[in-house]
Amino acid sequence: MSDRLYIFDTTLRDGEQSPGCSMNIDEKLRVAHALATLGVDIIEAGFPIASPGDFEAVHRIAKEVHGPKIAGLARAAQRDIERAGEAVRPAGDRARIHTFIATSPIHMEAKLRMSPDQVLERAVEAVKLARSLAPEVEFSAEDAGRSEMDFLCRIVEATIAAGARVINIPDTVGYMTPDEFGYRIRTLIERVPNSDQAIFSVHCHNDLGLAVANSLAAVENGARQVECTINGLGERAGNAALEEVVMILRTRSDRYDIETGIDTTRIVPTSKLVSQITGMPVQPNKAIVGANAFAHESGIHQDGMLKHQKTYEIMTPESVGWNTNRMVLGKHSGRAALKSRYDILGVKLDDEKLVAVFERFKVLADKKKDIFDEDLMSILSGDSEELTERIKLVSLHAASGTRDAPIAAVELDIEGKLHKATAQGDGPVDAAFQAIKSLVEPNGKLLLYSVNAITSGTDAQGEVTVRLQDGDRIVNGQGSDTDIVVASAKAFVAALNKLPNMHAKEVHAQYSGV
Ligand code: KIV
Ligand code: ZN
Repeated sequence: MSDRLYIFDTTLRDGEQSPGCSMNIDEKLRVAHALATLGVDIIEAGFPIASPGDFEAVHRIAKEVHGPKIAGLARAAQRDIERAGEAVRPAGDRARIHTFIATSPIHMEAKLRMSPDQVLERAVEAVKLARSLAPEVEFSAEDAGRSEMDFLCRIVEATIAAGARVINIPDTVGYMTPDEFGYRIRTLIERVPNSDQAIFSVHCHNDLGLAVANSLAAVENGARQVECTINGLGERAGNAALEEVVMILRTRSDRYDIETGIDTTRIVPTSKLVSQITGMPVQPNKAIVGANAFAHESGIHQDGMLKHQKTYEIMTPESVGWNTNRMVLGKHSGRAALKSRYDILGVKLDDEKLVAVFERFKVLADKKKDIFDEDLMSILSGDSEELTERIKLVSLHAASGTRDAPIAAVELDIEGKLHKATAQGDGPVDAAFQAIKSLVEPNGKLLLYSVNAITSGTDAQGEVTVRLQDGDRIVNGQGSDTDIVVASAKAFVAALNKLPNMHAKEVHAQYSGV
């Protein structure tokens, strides 16, 4: 009989803390539904005390997403815990409060300015309060990787006695190596007298590229919950990548006799959805979900593959959700076919959304013969943007070539009024951006501009990601179109829509009646 490993997904909390990855409530709900379909056991939906928007997102996920347990993060402080309890309450017996406090000498001395005894007392109070507000409590000893073992044992024993049923041991700064981290988990389980009353969990960061290896070492030594994120998103270098942890356990079941509840065929669609919503591209050579993860380029490899797939493939692309039957829809496809394809991709569309998405599908199908799943996901992303759109791209005309200076003319609808501008630039994209910038403020500092062809062929849609910074706020926008300049302008406008104070510059003449 194989053991069961619980998959705790923190894409919506630790993942969302990556620079530029913030999501609006509608986007978080879409990711949460996709995670439920993927089969994760616990969704960490956010940090409710952080802002009213975070609270609302956790609350709505707890209310609307069924299946997984829903966790809300809280520091070991009364207000945090009460707020988290309120946010996860709609999940009923699936609600979890995840409370944490730092336990390493450097964090206790320099950050908390508390003695170990004070930290221990605070942790116990926090767990007791959380236990009175939610059916399940997880306690995390932040920076456990650099904490002293004796103190870690004491605090783990005390928080289990106070009612925590999940004990999380984070390698917060990604400092551990697999051997020492595995040993740490085994020692805790062996030395803490009441360790049998809790599930041991790990949460590894990837600063030295060891997050997945450390998580697996912990599993080999008794951990039965792994905290991870889709595409390895997360603070700094990210967290352990869910898809890697799950596929290692499955592909090497001869070594790890441990099962997860993940439907692995949902991995790639979920990865694409998260990448699209956060604007964080997946590197092509990323294990499992990178575009090249199953591409065989060299002649020797292709020859081997033709003779036997297992010569160069340890798992099949289909098993992780790469779609080999890629060409599915075209301009003659109807609404029912579109809905059914979205169903397969794990996206549920109600009638109203289907009408809006079908319109966009038809526009794209007029420009492009074959519509791939990637195209379908990209036209969907405009869907959530509409909800918060204060500016819309009405029209764009750009001209460039080897002789004349590139020029672009844009029309924007800014809160119901039409604004026009023309500008020159270093290229047509730059000209379009200059024209847009002349119409709105603040317009942010451009931190990233990246272009990807979503599918192959010269009629492929280009997908552009734009990252902007305004003060301490970093936002991403994505746009796709068969015309790369239009895709760029859409991405820029999408990012501008996420800047809270963005408004029309007053110097420009306004035309009403759009
Ligand atoms: O990295 C970390 O320690 C965390 C905790 C809040 C679990 O994210
Ligand atoms: Zn973390």
